[in-house]
Amino acid sequence: MSNVHLVDHPLVQHKLTLMRRKDASTNSFRRLLNEISMLMAYEVTRDMAMQDIEVETPLETTTGKVIDGKKLVFVSILRAGTGILDGMLSVVPGARVGHIGLYRDPKTLTAVEYYFKMPSEMESRDIVVVDPMLATGNSAVAAVDRLKELNPKSIKFVCLLTCPEGVKTMQDNHPDVPIYTAAIDRELNSHGYILPGLGDAGDRIFGTK
Ligand code: URA
Repeated sequence: MSNVHLVDHPLVQHKLTLMRRKDASTNSFRRLLNEISMLMAYEVTRDMAMQDIEVETPLETTTGKVIDGKKLVFVSILRAGTGILDGMLSVVPGARVGHIGLYRDPKTLTAVEYYFKMPSEMESRDIVVVDPMLATGNSAVAAVDRLKELNPKSIKFVCLLTCPEGVKTMQDNHPDVPIYTAAIDRELNSHGYILPGLGDAGDRIFGTK
């Protein structure tokens, strides 16, 4: 699948397997998602722009490379995106944060927007959209549709799990947006859940039902 980056590092795969277990506690599910998100941040920022600055070591002056984290915006799709956002921010603390509130209409499975708040000057920023589950793909497509109106420098999408249906919807609508995921599961069921999946990510992160 073009433009899909499967993050198949053993640490990511190990933690994902533990998260899938139905008896994983809220506490351990959240902690594992946090840890995986740090590792995903490592992959998604691999080609980030860097600049040279001068630094004085205790022995001499040299040049070193730094990133400008402030140019990066993590956009969390509420509410489950929060679970990935926290881990990403712990490794890129200077990043800006945007939120998009979208809920899935249970009958039509289409995305309905109820909240949209972004930092200023989005046209000079690189965006990483985060949502643990790329299922139907409808929320991701709606989020990227809205973000493209702001003309950002680039957009990437990070999830934990997806399925062929979600990847196809995203690629049919936004072939220019790379998808970073830890796994592509078998299929989507008629209720919009990924199989085998891990259940409702939001409920598992927040301990709701
Ligand atoms: N959202 C979830 O939380 N889980 C799924 O399996 C699909 C969408």
